Amino acid sequence: MLPEKSLAWGRSKSCIRELAAYGSARKSEIGEDKVFDFSLGNPSIPAPPCVTEALRELLSADPVQLHGYTPAGGLPSLRRAVAEDLNRRWGTAFTPELIYVTCGAAAGLAACMHGLLLPGEEALTFAPFFPEYTVFAEGAGGVLKAVPPTESFQPDFAAFEALLTEKTKLVLLNTPNNPSGVVLSAESLARLGELLRAAEQRYGHTVYLISDEPYRELVYDGAAVPCVPDFYDNTIVCYSFSKSLSLPGERIGYLAVSPRMADREDVYASLAGAARACGYVNAPSLMQRVVEKCLGQTADISVYKANRDLLYNGLRERGFRCVYPDGAFYLFVKSPEPDAKAFSERAKKHELLLVPSDDFGLPGYVRVAYCVSGEMIRRSMPAFEALAGEYGLLP
Ligand SMILES: Cc1ncc(COP(=O)(O)O)c(C=O)c1O
Repeated sequence: MLPEKSLAWGRSKSCIRELAAYGSARKSEIGEDKVFDFSLGNPSIPAPPCVTEALRELLSADPVQLHGYTPAGGLPSLRRAVAEDLNRRWGTAFTPELIYVTCGAAAGLAACMHGLLLPGEEALTFAPFFPEYTVFAEGAGGVLKAVPPTESFQPDFAAFEALLTEKTKLVLLNTPNNPSGVVLSAESLARLGELLRAAEQRYGHTVYLISDEPYRELVYDGAAVPCVPDFYDNTIVCYSFSKSLSLPGERIGYLAVSPRMADREDVYASLAGAARACGYVNAPSLMQRVVEKCLGQTADISVYKANRDLLYNGLRERGFRCVYPDGAFYLFVKSPEPDAKAFSERAKKHELLLVPSDDFGLPGYVRVAYCVSGEMIRRSMPAFEALAGEYGLLP
């Protein structure tokens, strides 16, 4: 007999992957340029020159040392550099001992769930949310519950309070958000901090806050992601270089435990132990050295801003209702019919691949990933127009 949950997760494909697979098949059938594939959150712009330069330089170094094991939690020099980078940005007091280098945010989040949750304890998150959160929380024996958003896609705090109980061990937030592109405001974070401190008093145990920030640098028009640890002491920041440096296949990121967390040493040890138990030790050593040389730099995100404007304006002009995204590279579009899956199927008839939002914990929308070429967005407009026409949306 095999573990039921593992079997089910292994067998069920995410609807994003399924749509992307359909897109690949369709492209070979009718031609690459005939399919408007908005399914995947795979960066569409190259890694910045500092990545290639770092690789060139590193490849001339001693290969035995270069490709050798590093300490489980990462190279001391990288951990120091990350702590200094965060402190420079945020005026915080992170030390290298609080940084754990991970194989991307996925490994960091899974380590947090395994390192913090006892069986049956609850993790709260805010809808819409990255579907893998469910797998990470349940994989660690916990339960994931989702708080609905307000109309402006900030957390609904009345609903949050109703779900925040003695069983709540951690709260998981994602800003800028996949799939809505919304950046949590300082007001929302301040309110969240207040409610968590009150819950800790009430229940007599720590409630941890995990801030999942793989899109931290992908913000537009001067928007900025507030420093989450400023609002709540018991915070763990989960970061990834997948999107900021366009390195999603290289699997590199980090966890940063707040220097203001009272039990930070134990928590760090528990995260390290969980990562060890999951086999998530020693993130790729070549990439650890590359990101150390590229801290503070990003791929050319002006391309995403141009795409956002093109897509948002194009869809609004055609009568679609969209959440205005300040960051990430997703547009969250209201489905013109209640069933977003049916809408996504109908869009397919126009060769538009839009991900229905059901798996993001908030039905009734589709996610349109705009990490694609601007040229494809332009070419897709007649298809969006035809789709809007079918629903009578055209002004
Ligand atoms: C919100 C969110 N968290 C975590 C991840 C995982 O990122 P990584 O590639 O670093 O594992 C993703 C990937 O798309 C994401 O969108």
